[in-house]
Amino acid sequence: MRLKMNHKAPYPPQLRMPLRELQAEAPSPSSQEKSDAVYFVLGGAIVLVILFILLFVLWKRFKLPAVPVTKADPSEEKQSVYGKYDESADVMNMIFASKQQSGSSEFLSGNLRTISYFAYQTLKKATKNFCPDNLLGSGGFGPVYQGKLVDGRMIAVKKLSLNKSQQGEKEFLVEVRTITSIQHKNLVRLLGCCADGPQRILVYEYMKNRSLDLFIHGNTGQFLNWSTRVQIILGVARGLQYLHEDSHTRIVHRDIKASNILLDGKFHPRIGDFGLARFFPEDQAYLSTQFAGTLGYTAPEYATRGELSEKADIYSFGVLVLEIICCRKNTDHTLPSEMQYLPEYAWKLYENARILDIVDPKLREDGLVEKDVMRAFHVALLCVQPHAHLRPPMSEIVALLTFKMEMVTTPMRPTFLNWTHRKDDEA
Ligand SMILES: Nc1ncnc2c1ncn2[C@@H]1O[C@H](COP(=O)(O)OP(=O)(O)OP(=O)(O)O)[C@@H](O)[C@H]1O
Ligand SMILES: [Mg+2]
Repeated sequence: MRLKMNHKAPYPPQLRMPLRELQAEAPSPSSQEKSDAVYFVLGGAIVLVILFILLFVLWKRFKLPAVPVTKADPSEEKQSVYGKYDESADVMNMIFASKQQSGSSEFLSGNLRTISYFAYQTLKKATKNFCPDNLLGSGGFGPVYQGKLVDGRMIAVKKLSLNKSQQGEKEFLVEVRTITSIQHKNLVRLLGCCADGPQRILVYEYMKNRSLDLFIHGNTGQFLNWSTRVQIILGVARGLQYLHEDSHTRIVHRDIKASNILLDGKFHPRIGDFGLARFFPEDQAYLSTQFAGTLGYTAPEYATRGELSEKADIYSFGVLVLEIICCRKNTDHTLPSEMQYLPEYAWKLYENARILDIVDPKLREDGLVEKDVMRAFHVALLCVQPHAHLRPPMSEIVALLTFKMEMVTTPMRPTFLNWTHRKDDEA
């Protein structure tokens, strides 16, 4: 319907005014348009600002919960669904760049696993602001916290301390690069990482029974029967066999010890802590390197001459097996002097055919299969032999432990290093 306008209709008397006055009071059509335009621009700007604030708040709230960090070309990460800026891309660049610097990129071509990038806020929330009540333990590289993600998954969060020497940074990169290139049921699962400002954090699957040290040197009071101990020994042996012989690159762990053996709810073991691990050229017998690891578990050739090979892990494994059988630390200064250093004492009893004297008394009470214990003990002594070439490879150790191979070799007396201060487990 169109409206009809009657221009000739007279004004009501109260509206009648001289034309000049009317012209003076009513704004001219051009200034009216101008003020309309100003209102329109102002209104638009206000709406835009409100929209911008709303978008910013939403972005902050849902910012990067866990972005998959793939091992693909890092430039692809830049185009992720999270828009212009993506921290995971920076982490990948950092890891990728350091590969180039280390000159070891040829060992890293076959990454197997995909991990996630966690925002610092997500981990802060999961651990209740890194609450001391959630502290699982503290190692040489920083504290480890228990955490729970919003989807209910339990995690272990390792916060690396970055010191001046940047050792934490190095451990962070080595760990991420190593674990993402291997996959085995007896190796710890890294779920993701976080690099936020100075923070370097590793996020692992939470292992319900934490670590082996708590059972063999701790005071949990929980007894591990022989079959559980065999399961742990065999699991660690298989994990090491994979690292040394079966993975696509030869890897030496360098820090095999009770606190780095993590245990799930059913006491299945997983080797953890790959921060000191080394990729190893196939054609080299050993690498000359500076000692890093834990005293008491260290092979003599590595401790004294810095000669590192998988045989150093095999030595540590031997010490670990003795600890599991005897349920004690490898070095214990509270004991009489001849008993303080476990391999030394074990050798003495072996020579005198008194092996059972050293076995955990609770195991003996529980009832054990003597033949099985003797076999494990014998394997341990083969592993702690003084010359690296005498120690059997992990595949042979697995075969011996599972009775798939006859025990034919007699072990040689281990070397007893004269540490100036034989200190408990000190690196
Ligand atoms: N994934 C995990 N699940 C449950 N507990 C864990 C996990 N990772 C580590 N822990 C616990 O945190 C403790 C500290 O671990 P961390 O590796 O930092 O120290 P460490 O092994 O004692 O010393 P080091 O720094 O020499 O390895 C471990 O002893 C273990 O009990
Ligand atoms: Mg550890």
